[in-house]
Amino acid sequence: MGQESLSAKAYTCSSYLEQERQRIFSRYWVCAGLASDLPDAGDVYPTEVAGMPIVLVRDRQQTIRAFHNICRHRGLQLVKGACTVKGGLRCPYHSWTYKLDGTLKSTPHFGGYYKDTCEGFNRTEKGLMPIRCEQWLDMIFVDLSGEAPPLAAYLQPMIERWSGYDFGLLRREAREVRLECNANWKLAVENFSESYHLTWVHPALNTLSRMEDHFGFDVGDIHVGQGSLKYNSGVVNGKSLPVFPGLADMKKQTVAEYITIFPNLMLGVHPDYFLVFIVDPLSPDRSVERMVFYFVGDEAMTSENQALRHLPIDLWKLTNDEDIDMIERMQTGRRSPSFDGGCFSPELERTVYRFQQNIGRAVSVEQ
Ligand code: FES
Ligand SMILES: [Fe+2]
Repeated sequence: MGQESLSAKAYTCSSYLEQERQRIFSRYWVCAGLASDLPDAGDVYPTEVAGMPIVLVRDRQQTIRAFHNICRHRGLQLVKGACTVKGGLRCPYHSWTYKLDGTLKSTPHFGGYYKDTCEGFNRTEKGLMPIRCEQWLDMIFVDLSGEAPPLAAYLQPMIERWSGYDFGLLRREAREVRLECNANWKLAVENFSESYHLTWVHPALNTLSRMEDHFGFDVGDIHVGQGSLKYNSGVVNGKSLPVFPGLADMKKQTVAEYITIFPNLMLGVHPDYFLVFIVDPLSPDRSVERMVFYFVGDEAMTSENQALRHLPIDLWKLTNDEDIDMIERMQTGRRSPSFDGGCFSPELERTVYRFQQNIGRAVSVEQ
């Protein structure tokens, strides 16, 4: 299987990242943020997808929209930090102002002092550039091409597999994990997608669930899945967190499942919590990771249950620190002229192999 893997260049070269930007991050649905990042009307949330600046906006009717985060005058990054606006979005440079639906509202002195417009200038053509955007659970997905199949169709194999879980009960935990690592974003995705390394890299995790308790599964053609049969909820003072209803009927009382949604979104469902994990490229050898946790029902969110909620977050933090050491060394390995793409365990790294194939295929598609 070795010769079909991605070359070192795919992890080290900025021209490859540029191709990924154009052919992957601009053509597939990508999770750009969370609806709960902008909970109230007038909230604006700047974010990036593979270095492309985007802003999410919640209007007075609670509709969330996505725009390219650039002023149509001379291209300033319009919104720098998350905030709540009273009126519209005002560019700090020359004070052009946009409504929350992106319409350009005012262009002071653009036609000369005290003249806000001029011959041949049409404000209606200079609104913020919209980006197609849809929501699933708390996740806001964007499709920069505007031509991807509907989001529900894209996510359908995962939605179907997890249809027994009542995701309406999910409540977001305020504490999240954000970190930067010196590795290509794909190495983080690949690492999440296989459990072959668990025995050696995660001794703490391994006491809970051994390598042979893990299994892989198919999630349509482009996403990949794996899971563990031996998940145990944390216990503090003899108490555990509330779990999803119906686990026994689904035979999922001790099952955790992880799905990598192509290209860079990783999701995990456990009896008592749900994980959203996004990795976004900053450069070929640098990425930013964000993990957000959701627990099951209001009871899970009480202050008495905080220590219980922090248990899985601490474990992910520890596990991720262990992983980062590995993926940064994978990055270093790819600087060697002798790296030939490596090879995969046909059984335990099938998910990584498929992910690499999907990347290679998407990048080589003609424009
Ligand atoms: S660049 Fe925004 S108003 Fe000039
Ligand atoms: Fe790991």
